[in-house]
Amino acid sequence: MVDDNQIKDIIQVIKKVADYDFSDYSIKSFQRRIDKILEDYRLDFNGLVKRIYSSSPEEMEKLIADITVNTTELFRNPIVWHSVKYRILPKLKDNEKIDIWHAGCSTGQEVYSMLILLKEMGMLDKVNVYASDINQLAIDKAKKGEYIYRFNIEYLQNFDEVIRKNPYNFEEYNDVPYSRYFDIDQELDKISIKNEYKDIAIFKKQDLVKRENVFYKKFDVIMCRNVLIYFNLKLQSQILNFFYDNLKFPGYLVLGYHESILGNEVVKFHKKHYYYTKKLI
Ligand SMILES: C[S@@+](CC[C@H](N)C(=O)[O-])C[C@H]1O[C@@H](n2cnc3c(N)ncnc32)[C@H](O)[C@@H]1O
Repeated sequence: MVDDNQIKDIIQVIKKVADYDFSDYSIKSFQRRIDKILEDYRLDFNGLVKRIYSSSPEEMEKLIADITVNTTELFRNPIVWHSVKYRILPKLKDNEKIDIWHAGCSTGQEVYSMLILLKEMGMLDKVNVYASDINQLAIDKAKKGEYIYRFNIEYLQNFDEVIRKNPYNFEEYNDVPYSRYFDIDQELDKISIKNEYKDIAIFKKQDLVKRENVFYKKFDVIMCRNVLIYFNLKLQSQILNFFYDNLKFPGYLVLGYHESILGNEVVKFHKKHYYYTKKLI
């Protein structure tokens, strides 16, 4: 197991060799990832340092992919999607154009969930959907929109919760077939997003640490779920301010189910159901 000093050294080496700064990541989860990398790559601390110094750009991308946690699912935490469906999107439906950004989109399931919901709500034509992540390999996967079926079957239940059922009126049941949005091939163990939904979102690599708006837009909705938990409070606060500055007014910020805004930024947002709205200050 690497100790705190070794973690700091690894962070410095990555910073020197590539343009990534993990100094303000939460040290514990970073440490767990490095321990796993050492095990998987069968290296010790010195071996990893050497490897980073000699890595090609592709190897560096692989390392970044291994450092970051990319767990995601379709319609993750349906109750949060109920907020999006019944509280956020209805407030935007009369806008001429709507801009939505998924920051830390991982392999894209959250983005496709949004596209499906927008389509079902008849809003897809007026929405620009942007998505970004630090992990290029995850972005490549997101663009493809192809996933392993057996790992995703259970998330079709989330689809049912959000798209088919109405938690506020159980009489109402929307019998939307999965085939409207997915091609499922059980023999090949593959579930793919239908082609017509693949080229809608604009995916870009982006490191939130740099706080650069790579889409040159302000957004009506920012979804940044289960990303800030990997950062320390200082970096969380910087990113929340960055989101504040890049939200329109009114603007909606959706964090992960277990995440909330702490610290000085509480005064900049109103907490609602499972989301935040931008306050004018
Ligand atoms: C646990 S996943 C969350 C995915 C999705 N938002 C969800 O909730 O299902 C966290 C994502 O944050 C990304 N991430 C971590 N650090 C980042 C950074 N500095 N800039 C952009 N994305 C980052 C990771 O690559 C990963 O894909």
